[in-house]
Amino acid sequence: MEDNNTIISVNDVSMRFNLAREKVDSLKEYIIRAVKGKLQYDEFWALNNVSFDVNKGDSVGLIGLNGSGKSTMLKVIAGVLKPTRGSVRVNGSVAPLIELGAGFDIDLTGRENVFLNGALLGRSRKMMQEVFDEIVEFSELREFMDVPVKNYSSGMLSRLAFSIATSGDADILIVDEVLSVGDFRFQEKCQERIHRMMDKGTTVLFVSHSIEQVEEICNKAVWLEGGKVRMKGDSKEICGIYKQSR
Ligand SMILES: Nc1ncnc2c1ncn2[C@@H]1O[C@H](COP(=O)(O)OP(=O)(O)OP(=O)(O)O)[C@@H](O)[C@H]1O
Ligand SMILES: [Mg+2]
Repeated sequence: MEDNNTIISVNDVSMRFNLAREKVDSLKEYIIRAVKGKLQYDEFWALNNVSFDVNKGDSVGLIGLNGSGKSTMLKVIAGVLKPTRGSVRVNGSVAPLIELGAGFDIDLTGRENVFLNGALLGRSRKMMQEVFDEIVEFSELREFMDVPVKNYSSGMLSRLAFSIATSGDADILIVDEVLSVGDFRFQEKCQERIHRMMDKGTTVLFVSHSIEQVEEICNKAVWLEGGKVRMKGDSKEICGIYKQSR
């Protein structure tokens, strides 16, 4: 049963992707086949009747092998993808850190991207101006702020993205793998910041292939396998069983 402590409710969510069955080499060929109705697709269900609830203040790790549906699930929760079936209810604002570079324009400078990203998160220019220095300081990229982000390394990009996403006071923070590209010291700094946000009551959805990181950060875990929930519950317990299954 759902109560008013529930901040995210995932109800029987399924997500279908269409995979092109034949290789179509050119746009022209694609259009010809599309017009003739000859494009054939294989259906692929990346998520299959997934249900779970997240309580306010919980920190939930999504675990599972490559391709098990973790990122797809996070995108559905963030509203980036609409589920084919089922529904998701989210009772709060979301700061999503899902794909590296999403929300960035690579031709713009770091500084411009801070404001672009802020706008995409629904924050005003004034709000972003107030937190700008703090974002730059946390990212440790001050001397790169006027460089186009296409010249950033993946680690630098993830630092900036993390600093922006965690600068506001979103109710829900979604972190998909982005920590893994940061160096060891920056990862620790991010973990500390996530903990501080959790102390203030932020709900966290976290994906990492480091099970140790999941155990360290999360109190709950959902284990996805082939798009289905294999197990869910206490993080230590689920991670323990997951590790033994490898
Ligand atoms: N836009 C898409 N079109 C077609 N298939 C997709 C699309 N996005 C994801 N998939 C497929 O859905 C499945 C789940 O992908 P997803 O990215 O959610 O996995 P994941 O658990 O995040 O994996 P990883 O650990 O590698 O990040 C994969 O088989 C993937 O190929
Ligand atoms: Mg993924």
